[in-house]
Amino acid sequence: MRGLRPYYKPPLMRALQYDAYGGIEKLQLRQAPEPRTSGPLVRVSVAALNPKDALFRKGKFRQLSGRHFPKSCGVDFAGQIERDSGDFRAGDLVFGALQEWTFSRGSLADLVAPEPGELARVPEGVDPAHAASLALVGLTALQAFRDVARMKTGAKVLINGASGGVGTASVQIARLLGAEVTTVSSEGTHALCRELGAHHAAGYAQLDEFSRSGRFDVVFDVFGNLDFTRMRGALAPRGVFVSTVPSVARVFRDVFTRWSKQQERLVVVKPRRADLEQLAGWLAKRDLRAVIDSQFALEDYAAAFARLESKKAHGKILITVA
Ligand SMILES: NC(=O)c1ccc[n+]([C@@H]2O[C@H](COP(=O)([O-])OP(=O)(O)OC[C@H]3O[C@@H](n4cnc5c(N)ncnc54)[C@H](OP(=O)(O)O)[C@@H]3O)[C@@H](O)[C@H]2O)c1
Repeated sequence: MRGLRPYYKPPLMRALQYDAYGGIEKLQLRQAPEPRTSGPLVRVSVAALNPKDALFRKGKFRQLSGRHFPKSCGVDFAGQIERDSGDFRAGDLVFGALQEWTFSRGSLADLVAPEPGELARVPEGVDPAHAASLALVGLTALQAFRDVARMKTGAKVLINGASGGVGTASVQIARLLGAEVTTVSSEGTHALCRELGAHHAAGYAQLDEFSRSGRFDVVFDVFGNLDFTRMRGALAPRGVFVSTVPSVARVFRDVFTRWSKQQERLVVVKPRRADLEQLAGWLAKRDLRAVIDSQFALEDYAAAFARLESKKAHGKILITVA
């Protein structure tokens, strides 16, 4: 047929996407092209939400995420390998977290194409949903203590915002790395923090007292609202203050306090296969457990994001995709 060229129509899948920065109303569950990749392809069974999903959608990091739309949602996932790829076989159960700044990929979709370093096997006997819920937050906690703070066994650690996603993973991982853990969170969550391994569970009102204590080797400000100048008084003479939330001043101090006895540092999580395998190993041994706040079907994405953005979730918000 002259003039009519046959063209390739990629198969379609469900995906949660948006075409402009803004609120939850910008999200649309739609049919979108399946990822085209020669690397691993995962049929997603469950995904977990992170504040990053909402912050990027609102355009808070638009210098990084750019103006290319549509954008996808979600970085944490668990599911089955779709076809043989590298050391993965079709049907293998895997979990992981995407390193996404532009959100051209997202785990809130039927299929996702992670890089080989962004996924690991779910060990036998471990619920894939639990593995998914610990991917990004577990990596963040592990890298904050081990790589950024270079924490030693026996270190005294203060965790602010201990009842959220990163917080509940941090309490457990700090204990696994041999720390003495003090948590700061709302009153109703102190029992949870103790159950997860905190030696001392305190409320926000005690932050003032801690800020004059001079006894913590690491202060991990998971929520990201503490001031280094104020919390310096909580640090031991060679203590490290680690924050999760970047700002220009924090990036500046991350560089310049490296020559000081007391440092302010930023954690910027990087998905790595070896670290995901470490989390998987802890899950398999029941040394680490998922804390699930709530679970929603993919179709109920708006309610799931409203829960995330309330900042009141205790543990992780899961989305059932399959
Ligand atoms: N830099 C990185 O690589 C990286 C990686 C992961 C996450 N993050 C960032 O880390 C932050 C925390 O992430 P997340 O997943 O833990 O969030 P989340 O689970 O959504 O946080 C919810 C928690 O925030 C706590 N919270 C609310 N108001 C608070 C306050 N004024 N002070 C202290 N805690 C408060 C709540 O605890 P209560 O109800 O007990 O008050 C709740 O448990 C986010 O900003 C996220 O973007 C950064």
